[in-house]
Order: sequence, then C-alpha cells, then structure tokens
Amino acid sequence: MATAAPKKVSQPKVSQTTCFIDGQWVPAASGKTFETINPATEEVICEVAEGDKADVDKAVKAARAQFDDGEWSRMDARDRGRLMYKLADLIEAEADELAALETLDNGKPISDSRNADIPLVIDCIRYYAGWADKIQGDTIPIRGDYLCYTRREPVGVVGQIIPWNFPALMAAWKWGPALATGCTIVMKPAEQTPLTCLRMARLAQKAGIPDGVINVVPGYGPTAGAAIVAHPGVDKIAFTGEGSTAKIIQRTALETMKRVTFELGGKSPNVIFADADLDKAIAGAHFALYFNQGQCCCAGSRLFVEDRVYDDVVDRIAEYNAGHPVGDPFDPETKQGPQVDQAQFDKIMQYVEYGKQDGASCITGGNRVGDRGYFIEPTLFAGVTDDMRIAREEIFGPVLSVLKFSDVDELIHRANNTNFGLAAAVWTRDIGKAHRFAAKVRAGTVWVNCYDVFDAAAPFGGFKESGIGRELGEAGLAAYTENKTVTLALG
Ligand code: NAI
Ligand code: MG
Repeated sequence: MATAAPKKVSQPKVSQTTCFIDGQWVPAASGKTFETINPATEEVICEVAEGDKADVDKAVKAARAQFDDGEWSRMDARDRGRLMYKLADLIEAEADELAALETLDNGKPISDSRNADIPLVIDCIRYYAGWADKIQGDTIPIRGDYLCYTRREPVGVVGQIIPWNFPALMAAWKWGPALATGCTIVMKPAEQTPLTCLRMARLAQKAGIPDGVINVVPGYGPTAGAAIVAHPGVDKIAFTGEGSTAKIIQRTALETMKRVTFELGGKSPNVIFADADLDKAIAGAHFALYFNQGQCCCAGSRLFVEDRVYDDVVDRIAEYNAGHPVGDPFDPETKQGPQVDQAQFDKIMQYVEYGKQDGASCITGGNRVGDRGYFIEPTLFAGVTDDMRIAREEIFGPVLSVLKFSDVDELIHRANNTNFGLAAAVWTRDIGKAHRFAAKVRAGTVWVNCYDVFDAAAPFGGFKESGIGRELGEAGLAAYTENKTVTLALG
C-alpha cells in the first residue's frame, strides 16, 4: 500500500516586528528597518525595526525604572514564579506556531524546532519559575555578639545579546534566571533571527509580566548591541556568540565594571575508542556534528577515532551522510536545512577549501545543494591532522573532521590542545577509561556514550576561551544575583 506524502507544515504568520519597550510595540526612533531573510529561499520574510542607541536608551530607562521603583522587585517571589509558569503555558499553547516561526527565520528543520527547541524553551522557563522562591542566603556564625546573614539580591538591569543558532532557546536560557531572580531585561536578538524572541515578548506581556521587565530591541551588533554594552544603566551583560565579539564587549563593559557572562564557541573533541558500542558511537558522532546544520557551539567537530576502527567509522559516517535528507526545512522528513545566511555559507565553503588545501581527504560533500537557499552537503573530511585549520577553528557548519589516534595519553593531550573548552565526549565500554577522560579533559561539559544531552537543571558553559560563567541549573543563578552581607550588633 502506498503511503501518503508527509504533510508539509504551513508557513506561520509574523505578528511582532517592532521594538518592545516598556510594554509598548514601537518602531525604531530613527524609523529605520532591516530585512529578515528566509534562508531556505533567500526571500525577505518581513522588515523589522532597526533599533539603535536611542531605542536602547529608552529600553534601559524603562528596565531601570521597573527595577528601581516598580512592582517587579517588590513582588513576592512566588508570584513572580507564577507569572513565569503562565508564560511557559502560553508558549506551550502556541508551540507549533513558534516552532514554525523559528524554522521560517532560522531554516532549521521543523522536526527539530518542534521536538527540541520549543520544548526546551518551555522546560527552561518552568525550571527557573520553580527557583523564584528558593533563592536564599545564609546565616553566618561570625566572632562577637552579632547576627550576620547574607541576602541574594538581583543584580539589576541585565543586557542580553543572543545569537541566531537557537534563537528562542537562547532567549529562554537568558530570561529564565533573570526573571527568577527579579532582574529586568534589555535583550537584543540576532539580526538574522529576531522573530521568535519578539513573539515570546508578546506572550510575556499576555502572561502579565509587568511593562519594562522584558524589553526587546532588535538591531545590529555594532549599533544596538554595543549601545547596550556601553550603557551606564545596565548592570550585567550576558552574551552568547563569537569569541572575538566577546572580547570587544569585555573591554567596553570594563568601563562601567559590568558583570559579564559569556557562552562562546568551541572545537569540541568527540572520542571513539575501539571498545565502544560502534553502532551507537557512529550514530552519536553523526548527530554531534550535523545536528542544527552544524551550527552548535558544542558541535563534536573534532572526531578522534582509535586507529583499529578508524576506517570503519569513516565509511559508516559517509553512509549516514548519503542518507541524510537535506532540503525544505518545512518538510517533516528533512534532517538538514540551510545555513542561516550568506555570510555563514561563505565562511563554511571557505573552510571546505582550507581542508582540501591542507591535504585532508574530502570523503563526502563539499558542495552547495541546489541554487537557492544556503544549503550545503553534509561534508566529511578524513585524514585530518591537528595542525589543519579545519581541526583548529570553529567552522559552524556541516563539516566533520576525523582524526586518528592510537595512544590514550597522547589523545588527552591532543584533545586539550585548543584554546576552546566547551564540551567533549567519549564513547567506550570501559568505565575507568570514560571517567579518566572526563576528569582530564578541559571542558565545561563531558558526555559519555551520548551527545548533546541538555537539561535546564544541568549547568552549561566553557573553560578557557569558550566562556565565562555558567548558564542553566542552580549555577546559572549566580551571575544574576549579588551577595549582600548584613551584620547587626545584638548587644
Ligand atoms: P556574533 O558574535 O557577531 O553575533 C552574536 C550576537 O552578538 C548577535 O546578536 C550580534 O548582533 C551581536 N553583536 C555583534 N557584534 C557586537 C558588538 N560589537 N557589540 C555587541 N553585540 C554584538 O556572531 P556571528 O557574526 O553571528 O557569527 C560568527 C561566528 O561566531 C560563527 O560562524 C560561529 O563560529 C560563532 N558563533 C558562535 C555561537 C555560539 O553559540 N557560541 C553563536 C553564533 C555564532
Ligand atoms: Mg559578527
């Protein structure tokens, strides 16, 4: 019996395209707009308000007024938590539309937006809603006749600048701890993907989160983003994106001693030992790199394979690539959509050239798919050595580099021989080997016999140049609170 063709998902409606400041939906002060593009078709989806300094200034003033004198910071923590649960419920009620909007703006397959991005958004907001009334200080036994205790107070107005690879999820990771602790927010979504963040702000408004608590200023990095970082009314910056951008931000933020947390890139080692369950390891290594078009900060982009099984692993990843459906992201069968924009497409194709120039063997892919949209074939390089650019630099695309190893001690050294330290993984049946690797690898997250397992309760962040601070979990609250010590003479 013939099966019906899978039903395509209809294109979503776009409803929010302006700045959201102090509860108002307003055009940019300059009247300027920018285009957001559908990366699958290269067509313009819509124009979005292009915020800049004046808009950021208005947003910071609104966030400041709400933080210093408004109802948000005076509200009982449990009621703050209830508003967050309400927001999560509203997102859940619109999950399908939000997923479709994410796919339209970012190009990720609809099955991923539906099954990964949006469910993780909802989970993150609920997880932090539960923290709202559980953030508490200590009583401290100091010398003398005193009562000494600490209060954990919100850090204040937070500037949050996010990238385009998980637009809605990055908004949730940043709003969750900020709202739970009682901070107020000025967020700038990435210029490539502003739509879901704006839609979520509309839902926050609908949930009854007071005006001025969440402000969203879409726009470009060097203008709107830089204005947030420079603004003296902002207490803390949370940024996810490229390391070189973080360094610019860090320098400016220092002028006003803003707190910063950074979640940056990686070149994460993923290690397959010969004693691993190879079926799982190979499927896992494929997913670790090609998920989200390879646009993951924690992508398993340096695949180290023990020499005895090296050829087998390369062959079988090549087979996976041959059967990996690349195409229309609205088709539920699609596993790989387009890259987010022309700039990313060009950068990735440049790395494919570097791989060839440096002498690696291109086993699969290396070409554009079609002539419309930023699609790239799943690309696999074997015979990669540590010094090659494709083994050292973040490509952020569907390009996997496979390296060979034979000695375990040397492997650890090679895995750590990078300025990055975001994630790592190891596939083996030997639990001693797994734990030794987990202890020795310099990375913020280590997966054993799995990859990309994320949970709102588990902290995430980087060693070395992969970042500063942690997001998610209880650890994610630290950056959003100030510790205040209160000492009272009892005598
Ligand atoms: P980016 O770091 O330039 O952009 C991330 C965010 O920062 C965007 O919202 C952008 O508008 C903003 N921004 C840019 N310049 C700024 C400035 N001077 N001040 C304040 N905000 C600023 O990253 P981009 O250009 O989108 O991607 C370049 C590369 O960065 C990618 O190829 C990838 O290697 C890496 N990347 C890593 C991400 C991660 O999750 N760690 C996410 C996105 C990109
Ligand atoms: Mg940039």
